[in-house]
Amino acid sequence: MNAPSPASVASAGPADRYLIANATSDETTVLLNREFERRGWPARALPGDWRGLLMSVPDQTASLLLIADLCDVENPAQAFDEIAAGCPDGASVIVIGDRNDARLCRSLLAAGADDYLVAPVREEDLTDAIESVLAMDSNLVARARPDKPSDRARIIAVTGARGGVGATTVAVNLAWLLAHEQSRRVAIVDLDLGYGTVALSLDLEAGRGLEEALANPERIDGLFLDRAMVKSSDRLAVLGGGETDTADIYDATGLRALLEQLSGQVDDIIIDLPRQGRVLRDAGLAVADRSLIVSDLTIAGLRDSVRLIRMAADRGAGSVDVVVNRQGARRRGEMPLKTFVKGIGREPVACLAEDVRIAEAGMAGAPIARQSGGRKSLLRFRHLITALSPVAAPVSRGLFGLGRVKPA
Ligand SMILES: Nc1ncnc2c1ncn2[C@@H]1O[C@H](COP(=O)(O)OP(=O)(O)OP(=O)(O)O)[C@@H](O)[C@H]1O
Ligand SMILES: [Mg+2]
Repeated sequence: MNAPSPASVASAGPADRYLIANATSDETTVLLNREFERRGWPARALPGDWRGLLMSVPDQTASLLLIADLCDVENPAQAFDEIAAGCPDGASVIVIGDRNDARLCRSLLAAGADDYLVAPVREEDLTDAIESVLAMDSNLVARARPDKPSDRARIIAVTGARGGVGATTVAVNLAWLLAHEQSRRVAIVDLDLGYGTVALSLDLEAGRGLEEALANPERIDGLFLDRAMVKSSDRLAVLGGGETDTADIYDATGLRALLEQLSGQVDDIIIDLPRQGRVLRDAGLAVADRSLIVSDLTIAGLRDSVRLIRMAADRGAGSVDVVVNRQGARRRGEMPLKTFVKGIGREPVACLAEDVRIAEAGMAGAPIARQSGGRKSLLRFRHLITALSPVAAPVSRGLFGLGRVKPA
């Protein structure tokens, strides 16, 4: 195969990637080059059809990212097969096409494409697609070195299957108990940037440190984090949950840098992960050692839990568990626990009942452990912590290749 064009060489993010792209229109050329420039990658899109891509594939590069513009191609599936045959194993391919055709999209994904974007491609969709590939990179790097001893934080991502099922409640109570009953140093990162309620749940005023960190990854260091974290106690701190709409942060580089830095400063990082905002959500799932999906016992909760379990697995998340919450909240419209368990295909790691004490604690900005009453719920939360302990369920993944988690 021919030598690569120097203009198409790039070093991209957490793992080095050799990047090659073609573009069949001025619009796509501008879009791709703007994205590469924004990321500080030297690569530029090669003008012309996809055959030019194959001319540029290096002989020996496992870590290849190809962006193939297949617009105006009569048979994109066949072109993709030729591209795949010309790429080394381990290459990732993002396809751009001009057909909004679900069947074509499915067949390309089944054939090994990482993503299919329909032209004219939206900037955030391109960013999402690249971020997903990079998120997989950091997982693969991490998995390749599972046993390197290190002292980094355990990361637990908590996501609600539906709005209001109690994801934040679970995240906050988990964090509080780890900090105050297990003597762990804990940080909760509230990735619901505009509307997060973690700070509120602990009667704190949210700071803007998380937004600043996500927007300026290069500024993140120990001192920056120290200032950015809002402290609930000397063992428990909160990042994020501000009140401004920062939906335009769709690059996960800042999140990775933040978690990496934070990882050296605390024992546990609990991420309150919103369902919306694919980039941060995917990145959160990808780096988590454990993912908790919180659901109620409704049919919608079941459907979305199944969807999230699959999504978390696709994103390379560590072990994924379901927490049932608010059991008994609705006399009607609630399925028996057994039916739910059958539907999700696994036993929930914890099952919490609807409990007025939990609601009262939430309103008072306090964890259930600080509430008089609510003993049964408190016990369930304690059991959840035991179930999540690395001793009970060994976790061998690592963040950014840093290795083992701090023992609980
Ligand atoms: N087991 C429970 N019993 C009673 N009330 C609960 C329980 N769990 C959560 N709640 C209450 O339900 C409300 C929603 O909880 P929470 O904010 O944790 O949900 P969420 O899934 O994070 O919601 P959102 O989708 O808005 O982020 C809160 O008022 C909380 O106190
Ligand atoms: Mg919430």
